[in-house]
Amino acid sequence: MKHTRIDVAEFVERRQRLLAQMPDNSVALIPANKEVTRSRDTEFLFCQDKDFYYLTGFHEPDALLVLVKGEQSESILFCRDKDPAQEVWHGRRVGAEKAQQAFNFDLTYTLDELEQVLPMYINQRDVLLFAQGAQKTFDEMVFAILDILRAGFKHGFKAPHTLTDIRDLIHEMRLFKSPAEIAIMREANAITGNAHCRAMKFCQHGVFEYQVEAEILHEFAKNGARTAAYGSIVGGGENATILHYTDNDEVLINDELLLIDAGAELSGYAADITRTFPVNGKFSEQQKALYNVVLDAQNATIEAIKPGVSFAQLNTIACDVLTRGLYDLGLLTGDLDQLIEEKACKQYFIHGLGHWLGLDVHDVGDYHVDQDKNQRRPFEPGMVLTIEPGLYIDAEADVDEHYQGLGIRIEDNILVTENGFENLTVNAPKTVDEIEALMATSNQ
Ligand code: GLY
Ligand code: MN
Ligand code: MN
Repeated sequence: MKHTRIDVAEFVERRQRLLAQMPDNSVALIPANKEVTRSRDTEFLFCQDKDFYYLTGFHEPDALLVLVKGEQSESILFCRDKDPAQEVWHGRRVGAEKAQQAFNFDLTYTLDELEQVLPMYINQRDVLLFAQGAQKTFDEMVFAILDILRAGFKHGFKAPHTLTDIRDLIHEMRLFKSPAEIAIMREANAITGNAHCRAMKFCQHGVFEYQVEAEILHEFAKNGARTAAYGSIVGGGENATILHYTDNDEVLINDELLLIDAGAELSGYAADITRTFPVNGKFSEQQKALYNVVLDAQNATIEAIKPGVSFAQLNTIACDVLTRGLYDLGLLTGDLDQLIEEKACKQYFIHGLGHWLGLDVHDVGDYHVDQDKNQRRPFEPGMVLTIEPGLYIDAEADVDEHYQGLGIRIEDNILVTENGFENLTVNAPKTVDEIEALMATSNQ
């Protein structure tokens, strides 16, 4: 994440756009993430707070962005200072001095100066904006500063009278992707599509799920995406029916399906692609039939995407196709019109149809347009979302045994454009023929 593809000018423009929306005489505090202990004195690979990253492009832990909207607006960074002794153990730091110029802040301070300087930026402001509850230790520090300001009224100190959540403003901005963000997400999708191809070619009876995962991660890293955007799901057989299966420690068996939900993180942005295919490269009759129901639902849904359409409408389209398909296969019985009316497919389609995608895999942004959260938001150009219908038949379900234990999901990433959509997921095979043809070229 050190080498972002977004220009410094775009980060500056984002800060200016946020400042323009802040109330007069206000201050916003947006902290970076802290490192997280994995075991004793070792840490997990650092992942920056996505709101902080969106506004700074700065990749170090413990930093703090302060935006002041006063007579003039200021953008200030507190960060770790240079420290040769620490750097020789833990890696290089940008340092406050270099950060100011490299990231184009009005002012930078070292973390040592935080205690003394930060209260002065909060003092006398009417409104304080921050994400209360996101980081407990940060909340404690902010409330301690407010206590100091309140207690110091004889010295002319004054704490803000209003505390506001900053997240709504930032998350609304993040929902609409810029051309630079879209270019990165296109590439994250291309890398991920290749990784799914590699997994299909590698896959065979007897290999462990985590060995397939290793192929995917190798393909990501080889193409510039150091990490996955989330824990890869590599579930063979019945494991495909566990929605967030990440154990990935079982052996793949001939005649079973393998579900892979994996996405590269590139410059901080996520891809989120799912493919389901037969371990031996050839779908059985029933696997193919159920697979095509999911694929038909996904295609019909994607084709309907354009500005003005909402997730609610897409969900109805997906449920119609899934319910009809399940009825035709005998997995739902009764009156078809009533089954469609009741969205009877939800018995097997047990999660949502999709979600926003961006810096977070389940990206931020309001899904509704009304306060009561009843009305789904119409799509607008620049939004990126996933479409991921799935069917999961319990191994004990009272259905034809050939369908028992099947889990199928197909997931693509879609950009809403002025006139319709662009499917960012272009190189991961999706039809039965495409998948079987690719797997037939396996070099195993
Ligand atoms: N990979 C998580 C999801 O598809 O929502
Ligand atoms: Mn996914
Ligand atoms: Mn998803």
